[in-house]
Amino acid sequence: MIRVAVAGAAGRMGQTVCAAVEGAEDMELTGRADPALDTAVADVLGDADVLVDFTQPGQAAANAVEALAAGVHVVIGTSGWSDTALREAVSGAPGNVFVAANFAIGAVLMMRFAAEASKVMDRAEIVELHHPGKLDAPSGTAARTAEMMEGDVPIHSVRLPGLVADQEVILGDVAQTLTIRHVTTDRTSFMPGVVLAIRGVAELPEPFTVGLEHLLWRS
Ligand SMILES: NC(=O)c1ccc[n+]([C@@H]2O[C@H](COP(=O)([O-])OP(=O)(O)OC[C@H]3O[C@@H](n4cnc5c(N)ncnc54)[C@H](O)[C@@H]3O)[C@@H](O)[C@H]2O)c1
Repeated sequence: MIRVAVAGAAGRMGQTVCAAVEGAEDMELTGRADPALDTAVADVLGDADVLVDFTQPGQAAANAVEALAAGVHVVIGTSGWSDTALREAVSGAPGNVFVAANFAIGAVLMMRFAAEASKVMDRAEIVELHHPGKLDAPSGTAARTAEMMEGDVPIHSVRLPGLVADQEVILGDVAQTLTIRHVTTDRTSFMPGVVLAIRGVAELPEPFTVGLEHLLWRS
């Protein structure tokens, strides 16, 4: 059994992750850390093999450093933070870190297809659309997509009720456009990817890995 603790357990994503872990036959949910539950990350590390972090941009790296120091592997879904300090902290630490801007398989494919299309089409722009509770803009997915694409790709952020997490990549060339669009209708869209990351993080060949594609297409 993989013992899993969740940071941000009272949040929108954290609650969904707790339910997914409880539903996985090979996992045990050993801790729920969240200021809203009066439980600190330090309180849940003793019983965990893996810490899953869906918190806030200013919290994720510090939570991960704490987990690594306790020999706990870390899966991070939180977006909008810089990974420079954490990359340094992970070298020589007794644990691995896995980070994904987006755990939905459709989003991973969207990023891959957009990167491919940008090699041959003239220009592209990204429109990312999220629920109004999202703290960071542009989204981590949009930033990562732009990074993977060729050329300078502007990003437009939309925040409206009724949305979960959508993105359109629009590519333009002579007398034509190509739109690659990913739509989520529920946060369960991210759970197969999160469960895959929890299962895979301990065995990763590198101590710091970014992107679900590394777990999906390893062979
Ligand atoms: N990678 C992905 O696939 C993916 C998908 C959706 C959302 N996200 C990202 O996940 C993060 C969480 O999103 P959300 O909608 O669940 O937010 P949310 O605001 O609903 O939940 C965040 C929770 O973290 C808690 N928290 C704050 N500081 C903490 C700390 N130090 N330790 C433990 N818990 C702490 C808060 O009290 C809150 O309950 C955001 O950064 C969002 O962009 C990523």
